[in-house]
Amino acid sequence: MRSWICIKSQLHHFQFERMVSSTKGKVCVTGASGFLASWLIKRLLECGYHVIGTVRDPGNRKKVGHLWKLPGANERLQLVRADLLEEGSFDDAVMACEGVFHIASPVLGKSDSNCKEATLGPAINGTLNVLRSCKKSPFLKRVVLTSSSSAVRIRDETQQPELLWDETTWSSVPLCEKLQLWYALAKVFAEKAALDFAKENNIDLVTVLPSFVIGPSLSHELCTTASDILGLLQGDTDRFTSYGRMGYVHIDDVARSHILVYETPEARGRYLCSSVVLDNNELVGLLTKQFPVFPIPRRLSNPYGKQAYQLNTSKLQGLGLKFKGVQEMFNDCVESLKAQGHLLECPL
Ligand SMILES: NC(=O)c1ccc[n+]([C@@H]2O[C@H](COP(=O)([O-])OP(=O)(O)OC[C@H]3O[C@@H](n4cnc5c(N)ncnc54)[C@H](OP(=O)(O)O)[C@@H]3O)[C@@H](O)[C@H]2O)c1
Repeated sequence: MRSWICIKSQLHHFQFERMVSSTKGKVCVTGASGFLASWLIKRLLECGYHVIGTVRDPGNRKKVGHLWKLPGANERLQLVRADLLEEGSFDDAVMACEGVFHIASPVLGKSDSNCKEATLGPAINGTLNVLRSCKKSPFLKRVVLTSSSSAVRIRDETQQPELLWDETTWSSVPLCEKLQLWYALAKVFAEKAALDFAKENNIDLVTVLPSFVIGPSLSHELCTTASDILGLLQGDTDRFTSYGRMGYVHIDDVARSHILVYETPEARGRYLCSSVVLDNNELVGLLTKQFPVFPIPRRLSNPYGKQAYQLNTSKLQGLGLKFKGVQEMFNDCVESLKAQGHLLECPL
């Protein structure tokens, strides 16, 4: 009986695989081992895509082990080596792909993000490197680039009568320079360089600009933003004090947005992707209520003074995306941190 159920489920799995593989094409995801890219790959495999993921070291089980556990990975995932800093490194990965999701980037909070050159160089040159490979691909239909709300929200509010920022807004380069926000500057320059390159070379490029991404991590290794949340839940105030007012979005909404803009032929240009914007004190107020067992600080200072901006996400919502709420995103994040043993069930 058991073996019949097993054969039946294998048959069902085989039929499912045949069904999905005949309906979706091949896409490339750069930086496949990362927090957001891993979740996107999970969603793409569920949708039936064949995914070529690029990583710096495909043999590093600690970094890529979680990807091989995803349903459909054995049949439709391939991991190949590529580095943003090596010219032509992405040629092979994108060659047979109709879609490319360029996600890899030096990220906020890594040790070298304090260094302007180390952050800007790989972000800008790496993006152009990937796009030059895309240009050579004969099957390419669309590239989706992950930018960031950091490329929009770093503005001097005292000089802005309108505080509802949308895709027409860019972060102020002089302000990023003054505050030494190299990550934000890198996202501005990389996105602008990509849009220019795409225009000059007739590449269909759409960009997605997520705010702070919250939610479960597939990898046991936490990315910077997930470690920031872990720190806050454990009473660490440093990082969120320096963040001030910020937008937040569920990781699943970010992944679904990438697929939505890829699959919607009319999608054009930039798409802000954010569910809610909160002052850091509003954030800790919500979190202390939602998770009274954690030693979350009750107040945080804000080095930028009073901020009031909002992010207008009507363009993405116009394509049909409905954002998950703040409680759900933090609940899913906390459950994942607990399940992976990063966070104690009841620390107080
Ligand atoms: N997390 C957020 O809140 C957030 C918000 C807005 C936008 N974003 C954007 O989303 C993207 C992914 O971020 P994430 O949060 O998922 O961070 P992550 O987990 O640290 O992922 C970053 C990825 O970039 C790869 N990478 C870095 N330098 C590279 C290089 N020289 N060559 C090849 N790959 C390189 C990393 O590879 P290794 O694993 O080998 O280091 C990693 O896979 C980034 O573009 C980021 O700017 C993130």
